[in-house]
Parts: sequence; C-alpha cells; structure tokens
Amino acid sequence: MEVKVALVTGGSSGIGAATALALAKAGIKVYAASRRGTIPVEHPLVVPVKLDINDEALTEKVVSQILEADGRLDSIVCNAGAGIYGPVENTTDAEAREQFETTYFGSLKTIRASLPVFRKQGFGRIITITSVMAVLQLPYQGFYSSAKAALLSLSQSLSMELKGTGIECCSILPGDVATGFTSARKMIAKASDPAYAEGMKKNLAKIEKDETGGMSPDVIAKAVLKQLKRRHMAVRVIPRIDYKAVGLLVRILPAKWVLTILSWIY
Ligand SMILES: NC(=O)c1ccc[n+]([C@@H]2O[C@H](COP(=O)([O-])OP(=O)(O)OC[C@H]3O[C@@H](n4cnc5c(N)ncnc54)[C@H](OP(=O)(O)O)[C@@H]3O)[C@@H](O)[C@H]2O)c1
Repeated sequence: MEVKVALVTGGSSGIGAATALALAKAGIKVYAASRRGTIPVEHPLVVPVKLDINDEALTEKVVSQILEADGRLDSIVCNAGAGIYGPVENTTDAEAREQFETTYFGSLKTIRASLPVFRKQGFGRIITITSVMAVLQLPYQGFYSSAKAALLSLSQSLSMELKGTGIECCSILPGDVATGFTSARKMIAKASDPAYAEGMKKNLAKIEKDETGGMSPDVIAKAVLKQLKRRHMAVRVIPRIDYKAVGLLVRILPAKWVLTILSWIY
C-alpha cells in the first residue's frame, strides 16, 4: 500500500504547514489539524481541521470523519507542540504536566485514535516529530527534553509491538528550525530568579539566535515525505548532516563530556 491520506497535527504553522504542503504536492490528501484550524498554505489537497490534540473525543471524531470522507487513513504525523522554558527548580508540577500533556499525551491520543484504523487496513505509518533535544539535553528546557525523550521512547516501543502488522513508526528529530516555535515558547511563572538570571539570559539569547537562524521547515517536511515514500521507514531520523554528527557524538562520548561541552556553549 502507499500513503494517500494523512493527518498532520500542528498544520497551522512551521513544520506542520510545510509538511502538509510537501505531502500534498506529492499527491497525498492531507488533513492539517490545529487549534486555530487554519493553514498558511493553499493547495487543493490540504484540508484544514480544527483540533486540539488534547481533546480525545474530538481526535476520535476527526479520524472518523476522515474515514467517512476518504475511506482510509494511511498516516499520521504527530507534530503539534510547543515548549516551556525555565529552571527545573522553579517549574511547578502543573507547568511540567502541561508540557507533557500536548507533547506526549496529545500525540498518544492521535496514535490511539488511528491504530484501530491502521490495524483494519493492515497498513499505517506513524511519524512523530520529536527533537534532537530528545537525545541531547539543554539547560532550562528540562521538561521539553523529557517530554520529547518520552515520545521518542514510546515510538520505539510501539514500533516493536507492531512488528508484522504493516504498521510502522518513525521519529524525526529536528535540530533548530526557523518557525513560530520561538515566539510560542512559554516562560514558567517563576522564571525570573536571581539565582538563575545570568545563566538564563545567556542561554535564551543563544537558543533564540540558533532557532531564528535555523533551517527551513521544508527540510523537515522533505524528511517526512522521504520516509512516507519508503517501503519501510527508518526508526529514527535526524535531518541534516551537522545535526546527525551531533547525534552521533552524543551517543559515543561519555555523558559527562557531553554535558561539559553543552554547558560551555549554552
Ligand atoms: N522549531 C524548532 O526549532 C523545532 C526543533 C525540534 C522540534 N520541533 C518540534 O516541531 C513541532 C512543530 O513545531 P514548529 O517548530 O513548527 O512550531 P510552530 O510553528 O509554533 O508550530 C506548532 C504547531 O503546533 C500546533 N499546536 C500546538 N498545540 C496544539 C494543540 N494542543 N493541538 C493542536 N495543535 C497544536 C500549533 O497550532 P495552533 O496554535 O493553531 O494550535 C502549530 O500549528 C513541535 O512538536 C516542536 O516541538 C521544533
């Protein structure tokens, strides 16, 4: 089977919008879902959908509506998300939970709603957009990193559980991408703490510079399309050679060295 109908979450901006357009240009009908329910791209194969991925009933309804309209759903791209920022010490449980709610549980809801359809079809492609920060941790984004690492782990466990069903999972780990992600980043309530002020100021300036000067979301969209066109998807993909090299170094160097280097830079 090939992918003809896909649901992309977070389709109103950045990576999701670029992915929706890239897939549509390749002939795939794309339901681009977001809370805004708008799409910044125009293509006859991109259908905007209003969906908060934290709403389980609505997620199930959207999947049913896609089935009613097209008789199939071949792929989901779990991309919707945002990041919180601030020291671990000052982050409340509610703030940490909010990070996990969308990044982890929201993606899980999309996966759960689609799995019965994929099983029935004997085919399905589940792509999660995680982050290099799932494997490489930076200060003041501990909960963002943790939530992405949890989603990456989930994707890999699920991948083994679904062996032989025709359903495959792939996680794509982007590095810095120039999108609305930077302006959507939410400061925790107790972010201004003199104990962390100097470190945070330097760190935030660096990460914002890296993100705004980051790669085009089209690079990630292309990586998604490449996986969907393959007979079998890779388990995890880090787009772009420089980020691939970083991913490799993190795996082979002792953790203490990695953290020391990252502390110098960030
Ligand atoms: N930009 C980067 O440097 C970077 C790097 C690595 C990974 N990522 C990941 O890439 C993904 C896409 O981010 P982006 O960079 O494209 O940022 P973005 O431009 O801010 O896009 C985020 C998208 O997620 C949607 N969204 C957020 N919460 C949602 C919810 N509860 N339900 C439905 N949609 C929701 C937003 O739409 P609405 O506001 O309309 O709901 C928006 O379409 C995120 O998971 C992010 O963590 C980004």
